[in-house]
Amino acid sequence: MSEIHIGGFRRLRGEIPIQGSKNGVLPMMAASVLSDETTVLTNVPAIQDVDCMMGILKFMGCRCTLEAGTLTIDPSGMKETMLPECYVRQMRSSIVLLGAMLGRFGQAATCYPGGCSIGKRPVDFHIMALRSMGARISEEDGRITARAELLTGSVARLPYPSVGATENAILAAVTARGTTVIQGAAREPEIQELCGFLNAMGAEVRGGGTGEILIQGKRRLHGCCYQVPGDRIVAGTYLIAAMAGKGEVRLNGVNPEHLSAVSDALTAAGAEIEKGKDFISVVMKERPQAISIATEPYPGFPTDLQSPLLALLCCGQGESRICENVFEGRYETAAELCKLGADIRVSGNTAVVFGKDGLEGGYSQAKDLRGGAALVIAGLMARGETIISDCFHIERGYEDICRDLRMAGADIQWQEEKPKEKEE
Ligand code: EPZ
Repeated sequence: MSEIHIGGFRRLRGEIPIQGSKNGVLPMMAASVLSDETTVLTNVPAIQDVDCMMGILKFMGCRCTLEAGTLTIDPSGMKETMLPECYVRQMRSSIVLLGAMLGRFGQAATCYPGGCSIGKRPVDFHIMALRSMGARISEEDGRITARAELLTGSVARLPYPSVGATENAILAAVTARGTTVIQGAAREPEIQELCGFLNAMGAEVRGGGTGEILIQGKRRLHGCCYQVPGDRIVAGTYLIAAMAGKGEVRLNGVNPEHLSAVSDALTAAGAEIEKGKDFISVVMKERPQAISIATEPYPGFPTDLQSPLLALLCCGQGESRICENVFEGRYETAAELCKLGADIRVSGNTAVVFGKDGLEGGYSQAKDLRGGAALVIAGLMARGETIISDCFHIERGYEDICRDLRMAGADIQWQEEKPKEKEE
């Protein structure tokens, strides 16, 4: 297990290149199995979740190589349709292979997916959408088995704009017979990019990024080459880190239009934000103003930046409020922030933060991917050293958060966790 050590406050200045999108590349990797031809993805982030998805694809017979951000997937040798439990339990997005495998082979079996413990995270919407296209799905003993001799186009009405359920429905529909309409679809940029990728494979998908997606099924898809967009959540994390460091930071390789709700909230907190075609920069000279925000599906404020913003507001000028409307279990990090001197009161899905003029360095534990990033942000505002353990959570989605923040002058590095003293 690795730790992150942060030496305390440093004014941050500099430029940081933004890695490829975790939540963009994972569904594209799943979609690649819909063809028996080779797909090449570029700007692929070197993160644990990509390694995990590669492990699943290799287990099922794909040949995968990742070199310097270029991922080549050859699915021609696929034969296995049972997803390997050891990998599936590590991350949520393995569930979208259900739709892709039904589309390619007409069958798939998996255990329930793992991933960040931020709520119950059922898959009922996924199953409902796949059943609407004719899939026969059973759930017993913790396993999901799906079969469909022939998927047929349908109208899939999602009761909530679930990102994963929208992705699963699209992946099943692109080779189904006839036309599928997904109503109440998620609008996240990652959905729009997945549709772009599928169209590059010869699919016919319209409306990606809107609430209604129309898919004309095709019998065969072909390989393609596609660039993964910059990760908007990593960029948002670093915008907030730059505010914690009261500095001037420019993030390159991200589409600022995907961060509109985030830049609005950060501007309200006192940030000066500048946007270009493929960069976003922030200047922050003093402690953030207190603000109130609520997380919502895109284009609202993203739940994935709730914990990083919570950390920043621990040093806000006054009382801030955050309402978490997407995942019911996403406040585990509040207690860890309080260990560093924060004053946060959580009641139900609302956190009230009483801002202070600085935090105190100390020990804390990453509880999930974005919660771990939030603790890094807290460490940048602390007097004295902060040590964060269980940083494997962070490595799932950030290529190297220490390397990136050091580019802007942060005093931060990885350390191997000392072996625990043996109990006497
Ligand atoms: C995706 O998760 C992202 N993960 C999450 O990012 C992100 O927080 C989330 O979308 C929301 O934007 C990936 O893309 C790999 P949902 P997903 O289905 O698809 C409930 C990160 O940090 N729901 O939109 O799992 C669910 O419990 C991760 O990068 C059902 O009830 O999110 C939640 O409350 C964390 N039944 C809400 O909907 C279902 O069948 C939103 O979930 C599906 C979802």
